[in-house]
Amino acid sequence: MLPPSSFSRSTFILDCDTFVSSLREAVLVWAEHACVEVTAAMKTRVPRFSPSFSPLELGAALRALAAADDTKVRAFEQAFAQYIGVRHAIMVGSARMGAFLVLKGWGLEPGDEVLVPGFTYFSIPSIMVALGVKPVFVDIDPDTYVMDPDDLERKITPRSRVVVPTHLYGFPCPMDRILKIAWRAGLKVLEDCAQATGARSHGKRLGSFGDAAYYTFGLTKNITTLKGGMVTTDDDDLAEFLAGEMARCSRLPLKPLVKEIGVGVAMMVVTDPRVYPFTLHPVVGRLTRWTGKDVLHDVFEEKAVLYEAEPKWFRNSGARGVQAAVGLVQLNRIDRLNGMRAAHGRFLLEHLSHAEGLRVPRFSPGAEPIFMSFPIQVPNPTAVASRMLDRGIDTTRGYMCDCSTLPLFEGKARGDCPNAGRVERQILHIPVHPNLGPDALRHIVEAARQSVRGN
Ligand SMILES: Cc1ncc(COP(=O)(O)O)c(C=O)c1O
Repeated sequence: MLPPSSFSRSTFILDCDTFVSSLREAVLVWAEHACVEVTAAMKTRVPRFSPSFSPLELGAALRALAAADDTKVRAFEQAFAQYIGVRHAIMVGSARMGAFLVLKGWGLEPGDEVLVPGFTYFSIPSIMVALGVKPVFVDIDPDTYVMDPDDLERKITPRSRVVVPTHLYGFPCPMDRILKIAWRAGLKVLEDCAQATGARSHGKRLGSFGDAAYYTFGLTKNITTLKGGMVTTDDDDLAEFLAGEMARCSRLPLKPLVKEIGVGVAMMVVTDPRVYPFTLHPVVGRLTRWTGKDVLHDVFEEKAVLYEAEPKWFRNSGARGVQAAVGLVQLNRIDRLNGMRAAHGRFLLEHLSHAEGLRVPRFSPGAEPIFMSFPIQVPNPTAVASRMLDRGIDTTRGYMCDCSTLPLFEGKARGDCPNAGRVERQILHIPVHPNLGPDALRHIVEAARQSVRGN
């Protein structure tokens, strides 16, 4: 330190200048280093999904909440019907509620049979049991993941009333063949579009082929209203029945909707490519390695239950304006987001179809899939998932299962599905969501190839 006598004003100013410029240089070096790290991490740390909830939906939700505006429900229903290309759309509490009400509206009786794919979400066959209806499981085509029309034909009996073609992962069912078989057998067709809002086949939107269709709008779907779902149909009587049933419901309480807004904001933040590598990724990675389990799946997994009667919460599922306000914003964005999913799906297909040791999805001519998911099949999915995670990529085994072997349905359903069982054992979903950049996509392809080879 200088003795006080030698300390002059000019020396002090000079030292300050040196200090400030060194500090500025250090900050710049740090910022450059941080940018390089963030950019590298964005390419190589990839979440399994991204929500379609954005600041636009958040703004619409908050405005509708503040205005206590419930007038938008009809507007959303009309806009949705127009989007699908049908006469009616009726907001319901969930896809399973939609399926339940449609089957009830069609007057199905105990002992009647409904043909559903064996590889599907448990809640759909489960809710059929609540009506006393028997689910009959139809096997899937292991390449397309949807109902195999040949097995459908084999499983029809004189008790068959309805067939439910499920456009799983946004992959269109072969509707031309399914419709022919259904019409010949006098069956109604109820399309499961829970993962397929906006997908098309031969230029026509899924949901407009059959007699009715149901959709789900949870936060992780390609279109969200926070909670809830929709039924669409051209059948005036069915639409009137559904509107009457919904009019008898009390409105969904605000508390769970506000909670969903919070969850939506949290998902939006932690899956942002600039935030994910430093927040959710290290947590999920560590927990997965420690526990040897898919921890995210366990957090969100819904316990499979058999509905023995109409659930009480159905009567508390009336739509609110805040859901419709979010849905209206989503309808403006859905084609762009679906387009991005589809482009990413095509990229992965193109670069992985010749990779050794893995099976990619295939599509029939005219199908316009939206890739809610990109499933691959490998003999050892858990080992491949762990190697993918080592390379920064979060994958999941998903939540579909071979319902034909679920103990839940023993004695309540029938129909073997060997392909569904094989697919369940071998499936692994790799990221395909709209938030992926070209570098991340290339990294996924490379990581998948190497992980399957066991490197
Ligand atoms: C294919 C399929 N069908 C039905 C459902 C049930 O939807 P919800 O939870 O709205 O009843 C889901 C849920 O994700 C699904 O993926």
